[in-house]
Amino acid sequence: MESRIYITQLGEHVGEEVTVLGWLHNKRSSGKISFLIVRDGTGVAQAVASQGEVSAEVWSAIEGLAYEASLRVTGSVRDDPRSPGGYELSVTDLEVVGPSSDDYPIQLKEHGVDFLLEKRHLWLRSPRQVAIMRVRDEVIKAIRDFLYEGGFTLVDTPILTGAIGESAGTLFSTEYFDLGNAYLAQTGQLYAEAAAAALGRVYCFGPTFRAEKSKTRRHLAEFWMMEPEIAWCDSECNMQLQEDLIAYVVDRALDRRRAELEGPLERDLTRLEAVKPPFPRLSYNEAVEKLQAGGSKIEWGDDLGAEDETLVAEGYDRPVFLYNYPKKAKAFYMKENPDDPRTVLCNDLIAPEGYGEIIGGSQREDDYDKLLSRIREEGLPEETYGWYLELRRYGTFPHSGFGLGIERTVAWITGVRHIRETIAFPRTLNRLYP
Ligand code: 4AD
Ligand code: MG
Repeated sequence: MESRIYITQLGEHVGEEVTVLGWLHNKRSSGKISFLIVRDGTGVAQAVASQGEVSAEVWSAIEGLAYEASLRVTGSVRDDPRSPGGYELSVTDLEVVGPSSDDYPIQLKEHGVDFLLEKRHLWLRSPRQVAIMRVRDEVIKAIRDFLYEGGFTLVDTPILTGAIGESAGTLFSTEYFDLGNAYLAQTGQLYAEAAAAALGRVYCFGPTFRAEKSKTRRHLAEFWMMEPEIAWCDSECNMQLQEDLIAYVVDRALDRRRAELEGPLERDLTRLEAVKPPFPRLSYNEAVEKLQAGGSKIEWGDDLGAEDETLVAEGYDRPVFLYNYPKKAKAFYMKENPDDPRTVLCNDLIAPEGYGEIIGGSQREDDYDKLLSRIREEGLPEETYGWYLELRRYGTFPHSGFGLGIERTVAWITGVRHIRETIAFPRTLNRLYP
């Protein structure tokens, strides 16, 4: 009776005959011995076949193997410290489940990124891409654990929305039965605010959409955002939560995904180990002064561009909070700063090493009249916000929240330059396939 195991379990079966199901990652032959590198999603192992120890049929199948053929490999497990993973299979039987053409497009050499994106469905199998996906998974699980343990309730918010969440300029819209236009959600925040009045501390997590015509390494048309919303929490409390969350997530990645970060990703771990609270904080005013002194053309009132963000974060070894931006640079729902009504009680969190804004957050405008006048000032369709305004008529409450962009956070943690590698199938300005 064959016993089928995963490659990560090889160590528990030394001396036994087992079967592994996987794909051929690489192959090397020397005369009557063939070294097969097999991967199965859990790990990578070397299987060694000798012509003398397998049937003629199996040997000829091995000789004809092309990269990425799917295989059922049976053999006995041996300790071998030189082998990837530390164990080796001495092949007794092998079956080709799905042969592979010998023109597998992703060879073990450098390709241009456009080509790789064209072949993303295959590129995903590469060790570096697998490592990125594992870190992404860990980041998401860490955030969920942190929030769950902190008493937050997950509330799923709609993808098809009637009210504009952020700004009118970057909407994907579609027809919605007889009710006019619906938009793909730019954020779940407005709904999370309603849920915060029901559950206190909530978060939503889902895909969000921005029809931004930008081709930067920080922008996707579809990205995933984690958005906590907290009742009875001001801007200061909001930043504290962000700091605790980021420190926790980085620790978790270092703790549980060290092998991926060190190995295929070659991440400089000392950079991540430096990420300890407290994070430095600069007001928008201070940031502008610093930028102007550094030669930036920014003027008071402008939002920070990507270069400004990089410049402002320079010299810090951990993320930096920039807080209280000018009203006109930010979304309509942010609370006016009572100490300087030209500004709002908001913050961005800028990652080090040039990764830019990973979080945007704010205290929310809880005053009915002020919120309504901001909606009008922005020229947003007032009639679609009736329900949102009502939250300020029935027991309004101070509340704050933020949105953490998963892909930007994963890019920073993994050290991947462009965020398109941090999602399995990126949606960018000029790519809808695969
Ligand atoms: O700053 P943003 O636009 O904030 C919001 O959407 C708020 N409603 C969040 C909230 O307060 N609940 O976006 C939040 C984060 C950014 O800091 C960035 O990490 C990410 O979402 N992000 C993008 N990531 C990839 N591609 C894009 N086009 C992104 N736009 C924003
Ligand atoms: Mg932002």
